[in-house]
Amino acid sequence: MAINVFEPYVFGEMVLKNRFVRSATWDATADDDGFVTDTSVELYRKLGQGHIGLIVSGYAFVSPSGKAAVRQYGVHSDDMIPGLKRLVEAVHQGGSKIALQIVHAGSQVNFLPQQSDTEYLAVSKRSDIQIKHREMNDEEIQEIISDFAKAALRGKEAGFDAVQLHGCHGYLMSQMHSPLLNHRMDKWGGSPENRRNFYLEVIREVRKLVGDNFPLMIKYGIKDESESGLSLNEGLETISQLVDAGIDLVEVSANVGGSLINADNTVERPYFREWTAAVKKTVNVPVVMVGGIRSVGMSQDIVNGGDADLVAMCRPFIREPDLITRWERGDTSPAKCVSCFKCLGVTIRGKPIECAEENPQL
Ligand SMILES: Cc1cc2nc3c(=O)[nH]c(=O)nc-3n(C[C@H](O)[C@H](O)[C@H](O)COP(=O)(O)O)c2cc1C
Repeated sequence: MAINVFEPYVFGEMVLKNRFVRSATWDATADDDGFVTDTSVELYRKLGQGHIGLIVSGYAFVSPSGKAAVRQYGVHSDDMIPGLKRLVEAVHQGGSKIALQIVHAGSQVNFLPQQSDTEYLAVSKRSDIQIKHREMNDEEIQEIISDFAKAALRGKEAGFDAVQLHGCHGYLMSQMHSPLLNHRMDKWGGSPENRRNFYLEVIREVRKLVGDNFPLMIKYGIKDESESGLSLNEGLETISQLVDAGIDLVEVSANVGGSLINADNTVERPYFREWTAAVKKTVNVPVVMVGGIRSVGMSQDIVNGGDADLVAMCRPFIREPDLITRWERGDTSPAKCVSCFKCLGVTIRGKPIECAEENPQL
């Protein structure tokens, strides 16, 4: 029987209202120290009223050295918990579930004003960036692993229904995983097995603090854009091991490069479909497809084609936080979002996220 994407979906002990996910979205509403503001709470209240099954927060940095962007949420200290709780409450009031996405930027800090005196942490020295950076030592790596675990625990304490590891788009986890950026010859590099160790150690440490039953998800970069980088086969082998190690849900994206693959946005094109379908065939936990999805028909086709269990959108919810309720009411015309990525320019300028196609003055 055909699956209806508007019907509830059971994820572990949670019941999601439907099969729609709001993919993590940096919204540039935190204050300069990473604290949740009233603007953040209002944004999440609107999303929570929008009947989205699962909402993933914007990426939150696990330690000050891992900050990736201006006005990004922080989860690096217990002081952040009360503010984060407000986001959770705002979403729960509307009946949706919410996951906290956690990240360390490593040497990818292009959404931050660069400080010329700061030395950023890299997996290996890079020739492709201008910022001052150095290779992390083992002690620093262990400390960041522990920071991820503490951040996940804070997420649990703040009441989030799940935590999502940010393992894609060129940030630290991606850097560790990619043969293009990881040239280490210690236990963290030199072979596919070693380039997986960071993920595995993070999962192990997170599980120690949050327990076995708290839902742990990953947004996983399955492949580097460059053919000489992380291959699909290696990505599939890795994700299968990460699931065995304790990952409960996988959202599939690109690793280094390619996260913004969007060559032709005039037609709806779920550009990670093939990779996501390959993951769906490989793991036995829920799989989420993201990237370029804008319509009910496409969502139904993806789920009924067996290519994913859930469909995620980011940009469509920036323009229409009430997209799902509009569709539920019977107006099933596609999202007004045209997948242009101009919204990203708004946050890069440090302004609260809005659709810049609709508001060109932003
Ligand atoms: C403004 C903006 C902020 C984003 N912030 C995040 C983020 O915090 N974490 C993340 O994993 N991806 C982030 N992304 C990527 C999206 O979650 C998503 O993977 C990508 O936009 C493709 O989905 P879409 O076509 O539905 O927008 C962001 C994208 C945009 C446009």
